[in-house]
Amino acid sequence: MSLFGVIICAISVGIFKIAALGVDPFQSFMAGLDALVPIKFGTLYVIANAVLFIFMLIFDRHYIGIATFINLFLLGYITQFTYEFLQTLIVEPAIWVRVLCLIVGVVIICFGSAFYMTADLGVSTYDAVALIIVNTWKRGKFQYVRIITDVVCVLLGVGLFLLSGGGVKGIIAIAGVGTIITAFFMGPLIEFFNVHCARPVLNGKNKKEEYMKETLKVLESRRSCRKFKNEMLREEDLNAIIRAGTFAPTGMNKQTPIIIAVTNKDLRDKISEENRKIGGWKEGFDPFYGAPVILIVLANKAECPTYIYDGSLVMGNLMNAAESLGIGSIWIHRAKEEFESDFGKKLLADLGVDGDFEGIGHVPLGYVDEGGVKAAAPRKENYVYWVK
Ligand SMILES: Cc1cc2nc3c(=O)[nH]c(=O)nc-3n(C[C@H](O)[C@H](O)[C@H](O)COP(=O)(O)O)c2cc1C
Repeated sequence: MSLFGVIICAISVGIFKIAALGVDPFQSFMAGLDALVPIKFGTLYVIANAVLFIFMLIFDRHYIGIATFINLFLLGYITQFTYEFLQTLIVEPAIWVRVLCLIVGVVIICFGSAFYMTADLGVSTYDAVALIIVNTWKRGKFQYVRIITDVVCVLLGVGLFLLSGGGVKGIIAIAGVGTIITAFFMGPLIEFFNVHCARPVLNGKNKKEEYMKETLKVLESRRSCRKFKNEMLREEDLNAIIRAGTFAPTGMNKQTPIIIAVTNKDLRDKISEENRKIGGWKEGFDPFYGAPVILIVLANKAECPTYIYDGSLVMGNLMNAAESLGIGSIWIHRAKEEFESDFGKKLLADLGVDGDFEGIGHVPLGYVDEGGVKAAAPRKENYVYWVK
């Protein structure tokens, strides 16, 4: 799926080039570089990506997957082949042919991106740049950082193109309407293809059974983590975990629990200190074991007598969802006492949370550090009593 997606994306870039109304921001940069450096585009593409790949290697390797390599070694050559092939078919295209190529290019790139992203087998070296800035260096929000990297790419591309002696007229071929569309408006179309094409293929006929086996494995393999890496989680993973929490069953479907998601280091440390004091641990001990994210589950006592069970099921969902994404978690207690204290009450008031909420538990989240989890203890003998 990953290979299919990348090939489709590469073909679409070739079509964008025929349209000559602008390519996606990274390709804008590549087009400028291509105009300046007299070597084959495919080779140039591999070199530029190799530089970014070293950046990935140094700063965050976990975005590296099969798709990274397919992108690295294949995309440039397929783009070049498609472009050269189409040039033999479409000679000096009229403006309506170019507009048609642009539309076809956008649709196809969204279709390809949906497959490449849904396969979730690594990201391209360029996609990794914004992800590393946001998730590893904790600088800014993804959508804004991505726009900045895109704008930098386009400016560099145009600059290199002008340096190569290209005329102002030629700029629209590398930074035109196609660039604006791909930089800002591809999201909804990618999502459409995700829902209607990529995910159905991924979850094909035999997948349901595999999926069920996978769920059972996750439930059995989850273990409490007591040593986390400092590294921030990806926002999409965190959102997926929280979403799973909100789908836990609740008594009378009252949905009594709420989740407070803390990624702010300052607040996270204050909560940790509060929890440490309640637990009576010695100074300097971090009861959240270094986790960069803390999810706190509370439940409204006044809404349903099952509130503790409701909140506990949310806790379970959060921890199992984390495990399914390869993320470590643990239940850390003393949320009840924490939110009975002035500290907790003020925290809720600051957030505008109104109601009779009791703290159920904390789920610290993060990537597991070496020695962070222990093997499961053997299950006790008299766990199950059968009545057949
Ligand atoms: C209600 C509850 C409260 C817990 N509180 C803490 C805690 O405050 N600190 C801690 O290190 N572990 C805590 N744990 C984690 C348990 O110690 C852990 O789940 C247990 O040892 C089993 O290990 P496993 O989760 O790896 O299977 C808690 C677990 C539960 C269910």
